[in-house]
Amino acid sequence: MRTLILGATCVLPFETTRLNILLADGKIASIGAPRTTHADEVIDADGLHLIPGVIDDQVHFRDPGLTHKEDLRTASRACARGGVTSFLEMPNTNPTTTTLEALIDKLDIAAEKSLVNYGFYVGATPHNLDVLKFATRTPGIKIFIGSSTGDLLVNEQDALEAIFAETMLPICAHCEDETLVRANTARLIGDKTKVDIAVHSQIRNHEAAVIATKRTIDLATRHNHPFHVLHMSTADEVPLIREAKAAGAPVTAEVCPHHLFFNVDDYPRLGSRIQMNPALKTLADNDGLWRGLLDGTIEVIATDHAPHTLEEKSQPYPKSPSGIPAVENSLMLMLNQVNRGRCTLEQVVHWMCTKPAEIWHLANKGQIAEGNDADLVLIDMNATHTILDENQLTKTKWSPWHGTEVQGVPVGTWVMGQRVYWQGQIDESVRGHEIEYDR
Ligand code: DOR
Repeated sequence: MRTLILGATCVLPFETTRLNILLADGKIASIGAPRTTHADEVIDADGLHLIPGVIDDQVHFRDPGLTHKEDLRTASRACARGGVTSFLEMPNTNPTTTTLEALIDKLDIAAEKSLVNYGFYVGATPHNLDVLKFATRTPGIKIFIGSSTGDLLVNEQDALEAIFAETMLPICAHCEDETLVRANTARLIGDKTKVDIAVHSQIRNHEAAVIATKRTIDLATRHNHPFHVLHMSTADEVPLIREAKAAGAPVTAEVCPHHLFFNVDDYPRLGSRIQMNPALKTLADNDGLWRGLLDGTIEVIATDHAPHTLEEKSQPYPKSPSGIPAVENSLMLMLNQVNRGRCTLEQVVHWMCTKPAEIWHLANKGQIAEGNDADLVLIDMNATHTILDENQLTKTKWSPWHGTEVQGVPVGTWVMGQRVYWQGQIDESVRGHEIEYDR
């Protein structure tokens, strides 16, 4: 199959320029192809922008075991609509992805169901060092250094030292201090069955995030082990990353749209719809995280897409579960910021496409370059769209951004040269590929 995309303004690694792109056999075959190039399909992309497909390096797609919330088919359809062409999925499914069998099982389910490209982390436990040492069909190791949804947790210092010392794969971690979170829970909730939702941010507070981020940076620095701090939630963590990088530690960091756009002042309006871990902090944290992004300290934006049903969410706190869906809205939310002048389209591509590919060593992805996989998104920077619960493709059919109008929307998505999404329609016949790693 040969597709010629005519006249899109393309975000290339070193320039943004208007030209024609030829896709052939799943690859970007030619950049700057003549208009007359033979193709099976020609797309007139005049007035549109073409960017590499988004790589979301932190999602919870619930398959297997929790498929009433989401599954790999519904989640990957939402990815296609949102411009996400590859995802890296977290191990807190049921069973957890803490054995090679569970990893292979997930890869098999994805091969059958996923419309976009897929990779799955292996989850650390205090006792599965052999799995973490020998897994290859994975981007890396996920450690819950503080517990969240599910029961994955490694809080013992000797187990953490062994993981950082004896494994080769890159590591990422959920950084909230388990000891402090438990103490805060006992103090602020105790045996009460109903507490104001805002207490969530007092339990999972600034200190909990900072202690855990410091602890893991220390491990990565001493063991010189590539390490990625997932979903930072506080302005206070930004200088920790900046200093570690300046000292030469192999450390990177990420932020999610919800920690950029929501804060504790939004609880009265949105309640448990914005309950997630790490918990929301303050407006000053939103600003500090933005500054960290814009000055290059934080290099990745990912969603932490973690759906729960509205029924589950409507239970009183602390019974209400933590996590929000976001995978089909993250790119449009960031394009909206480009239109508002807060960042550039090139920065969005850097944070959402190029850097995740680089950090996780994804082969042939993350940039529009000849020979790379034809994972691409065509976007209309002028189109407007209102995010509505009822229009979501994810299984739980709600969004914390319900009612938000954005300007800048994906109109077409290609996965390995196959057009999986086009102007509101999903091509259900498309299948993504298992991601390959260049390590
Ligand atoms: O809020 C969250 N929910 N944060 C996580 O880290 C896990 C996630 C989930 O799986 O529900």
